[in-house]
Amino acid sequence: MTAAESVSNAPASQALRVKDVLAKSIAFFTAKGIETARLDAERMLAEVLGIDRLEIYLEPDRAIADEERDRLRELVKRRSLREPAQYILGNAGFYALELRTDARALIPRRETELLVDRAREIALERAVKALDLGTGCGCIALALAKHLAAGSRVWATDISPPALDLARENAATAGLTDAVVFAAGDLYEALPHDAGPFDIIAANLPYIPSGDIAGLMPEVRDHEPRQALDGGADGLDVIRACVSQTPPHVAAGGWLLLEVGMGQAPAALEMLRSAGLEPGDVLQDAASVGRVVQGRRTG
Ligand SMILES: C[S@@+](CC[C@H](N)C(=O)[O-])C[C@H]1O[C@@H](n2cnc3c(N)ncnc32)[C@H](O)[C@@H]1O
Repeated sequence: MTAAESVSNAPASQALRVKDVLAKSIAFFTAKGIETARLDAERMLAEVLGIDRLEIYLEPDRAIADEERDRLRELVKRRSLREPAQYILGNAGFYALELRTDARALIPRRETELLVDRAREIALERAVKALDLGTGCGCIALALAKHLAAGSRVWATDISPPALDLARENAATAGLTDAVVFAAGDLYEALPHDAGPFDIIAANLPYIPSGDIAGLMPEVRDHEPRQALDGGADGLDVIRACVSQTPPHVAAGGWLLLEVGMGQAPAALEMLRSAGLEPGDVLQDAASVGRVVQGRRTG
């Protein structure tokens, strides 16, 4: 019997308690190979109980009502099928923003915050024009809109209309609807022609080699949009197109900031040189992976 079933099959006389349900859910997730078993079980239980995650431990003997049990069973089942917790619960944090997340767009990753850090460092207190290429749920564009100096303007594009719908919903929730112009289409083609040139272009485009996708974790491979992951044979097709198209869109002295995958920084630096952009330092993420490649238009 699975934990999801044991949650649902308990006789009414034996009321399920928070501590038992938590323990069963953790054991079930662990058996399914889910590395974040405890965290996910805590978050799902907290969601159905309508309390903060750590409050679970203040009420270990609280009885679980039937509706709570049924709702938890549904969430646990979805997670056991390796759907990401952020899609099931519908939210993820990014740069102190609480963003809605669902299968329309990639779940924002911690390492992507580096792009925002670097953009802010470049802009300092100046009002700038910034562009987020491949915005997904809108995370980079919204963080920039929130943190760049007053008078700055932010554009965001994506080839996926459903991702842009999600990004617009996130902008509305964050009170930033008027702060970002969203446009659908392929890279720079999406932009109105009077939008650029930009002082800062940040791009977290797909960079996973097509042949590596089958070996990804099921959460990513089976649930996140293929269009957000697949970068072609060497993973660099979209980044290559982006770099070659960038020069007319970047202002003199402006920067292109690219997130890349493990081991891709040298190839990306070469692309920047070929496009006439001057490469800057490669920024490393918390796992010491060369993660952000940057090129400046000097002329
Ligand atoms: C790796 S995801 C990143 C999403 C978001 N920026 C983030 O950091 O979470 C890449 C995004 O680029 C978009 N994309 C893929 N090819 C594109 C293209 N040719 N032009 C514009 N966007 C593209 C995908 O739809 C996806 O939303």
